Amino acid sequence: MISQKLVDALNDQIAFEIHSALIYKAMQAYFEAEDFPGMANWMNVQFQEELAHAEKMFNFVCEAGGRAKMLAMTEPQNDYSSPLNVFETALAHEQIVTSRINDLMELAQAEKNHAAQIFLQWFVTEQVEEEASAGLIIKKLKMIEGDGRGLLMIDQELAQRVFTPIATN
Ligand code: FEO
Repeated sequence: MISQKLVDALNDQIAFEIHSALIYKAMQAYFEAEDFPGMANWMNVQFQEELAHAEKMFNFVCEAGGRAKMLAMTEPQNDYSSPLNVFETALAHEQIVTSRINDLMELAQAEKNHAAQIFLQWFVTEQVEEEASAGLIIKKLKMIEGDGRGLLMIDQELAQRVFTPIATN
């Protein structure tokens, strides 16, 4: 049986995943306004991924016999100073997500909830990828130092990203 403490922590994380989705949608809006359609596409895929993360966690709470709840979060940041600023903000956000997932894993371990540990393992691995992909884009953006042609090339590259649905239950 899942503890109420773990259910509460997972409900918090469901809200944080939805909050993450809103952050990426706001970043998409910035790129749409700045005429970077490829970067906007990348953010839209990220938005869909975060909603899938929330859905996956919601389904686990329900299946584990917990009471899933929707919790309100704050307004996401809407204004940014440059593409590099956006991706640095995204990476900093993902680092917070990673630390939250690690905290959840430690709670599941402390409670000897093996099912929750196996479930959370997927998120632990996912966070490695989340941080790596934002980190790589930051590296490229720093390399071009704001050069217009370089920005267009990165924009074209990020236009290729497509959303791949994940198993949510
Ligand atoms: Fe759901 Fe980007 O972590």
